[in-house]
Amino acid sequence: MSQRIKIKAILASTPTDTRVTVKGWVRTFRNNQFIALNDGSTNQNLQVVVDFENTDPELLKRITTGAAISATGMLIASLGKGQSVEVKATEIEVLGDSDPEKYPLQPKKHSLEFLREIAHLRFRTQTFGAIFRVRNSLAFAVHQFFQERGFVYLHTPVITASDAEGAGEAFKVTNFDLANPPKTETGEIDYKQDFFGKATNLTVSGQLEGELGAMALSDIYTFGPTFRAENSNTTRHLAEFWMIEPEMAFYDLDDNMDLAEALLKYTINYALEKNADDLAFLSQRLQEEEKSKPQQERSDMSLLDKLQFCLSNDFERLTYTQAIDILKDSTPNKKKKFQYPIEGWGADLQSEHERYLVEKHFKKPVILTDYPKQIKAFYMRQNELDAQGHETVRAMDILFPGIGEIVGGSQREERLDKLEQRMDEMGIPKEDLWWYLDTRRFGACPHAGFGLGFERLVLFVTGMGNIRDVIPFPRFPKNAEF
Ligand code: 4AD
Ligand code: MG
Repeated sequence: MSQRIKIKAILASTPTDTRVTVKGWVRTFRNNQFIALNDGSTNQNLQVVVDFENTDPELLKRITTGAAISATGMLIASLGKGQSVEVKATEIEVLGDSDPEKYPLQPKKHSLEFLREIAHLRFRTQTFGAIFRVRNSLAFAVHQFFQERGFVYLHTPVITASDAEGAGEAFKVTNFDLANPPKTETGEIDYKQDFFGKATNLTVSGQLEGELGAMALSDIYTFGPTFRAENSNTTRHLAEFWMIEPEMAFYDLDDNMDLAEALLKYTINYALEKNADDLAFLSQRLQEEEKSKPQQERSDMSLLDKLQFCLSNDFERLTYTQAIDILKDSTPNKKKKFQYPIEGWGADLQSEHERYLVEKHFKKPVILTDYPKQIKAFYMRQNELDAQGHETVRAMDILFPGIGEIVGGSQREERLDKLEQRMDEMGIPKEDLWWYLDTRRFGACPHAGFGLGFERLVLFVTGMGNIRDVIPFPRFPKNAEF
């Protein structure tokens, strides 16, 4: 038998009347004659034509939606619409039957909610095939971007004793019998007897360990799973998500923003080049979906236009204080349309505010800097008091249309006294982070970094509306199926 060829390669070839073997899953089988075959290498199906008059009727019956087959035959020019080649099969073998009565994926439109319940099969739909090929390209592009720039890919631990963000949203890791954990004399759980000899959790961020690497290797990045036990049932939060966290010695906040903007543009451009078919399909899909929405909720740009727009425009950079002034005077704030009205300086921005700035006011990606110290993590570099006497830190958040915050980062506090003082104020035990503080004792230098939520990037590039649809097996409150 000739060697199996992937459908993507076949569709890109010109017919040469050669014998080929293809393998894949049947999408549809029409008139006992035309198989639409897909093997996941591309969004396009390959037409396999069956010589039904010379094929065993028992075999024909087994060619059903979802079945895995192998087909061998001549690759010829196709007369059919929308395809240049087809395979005229002379041999067909059913590798895996699929009972059409029981197969959950019918050749019709299923809702995304339903497909989430059968996430083990949704890869076989056009939409999810496209999403996960785009996700793959974006991940590869992230590595390529950093590797081209001499960054070291650093693997930070998944199990740790620190809560890097200090937000108390970490999943506990223990080996104790939960019904009967060992207790101390005072009746508290005695973690000294636990597996690691201390209380541990799944990492919420690799940043603190990343900083240790940057203090020797100069430029590092992490790219791995992170975990948050926040009870947010939103379309933008997952309990398990992938984060990219670069950390750069000798960078200030401007360098940091330049790098983040370059990374986002590079990865989006990469997907546009590598996944033109998939993105054209997803763009079309979105347009169809928007037809059912009221006019004012439809976007004026297609997905492809939005991605191009993002590449060809500088992100708008402004301070938190400037953003608050804009929001205070905004129509929705004056008309009390915000769920959380902006009363003054110091408020944390909600997603409705972020989206107003990006989607209504600037109509492009925005980078906000210099947030109030009170609403940000302990490790951010403290600014001098500003003209109004506000205490701010050298933070930056990148806000994207339809997404809100996609990147969060800062210049780090490299001054030991300032850092210790801030930890004391926030009640963060210094002895637990002795190793982090050591980098400020021995050869401290200005440095900066950020975290990019990978699924939020995939969400933006695919134009999907729910983060649960851009990770193969989403983890969220009350769900850990598969
Ligand atoms: O803003 P965050 O919490 O920042 C950090 O963790 C820093 N340590 C990053 C750094 O400076 N190295 O998270 C960073 C990004 C967010 O901007 C968002 O894109 C994403 O991670 N993110 C989530 N994505 C999905 N589900 C969640 N629950 C997320 N929480 C944060
Ligand atoms: Mg953040």
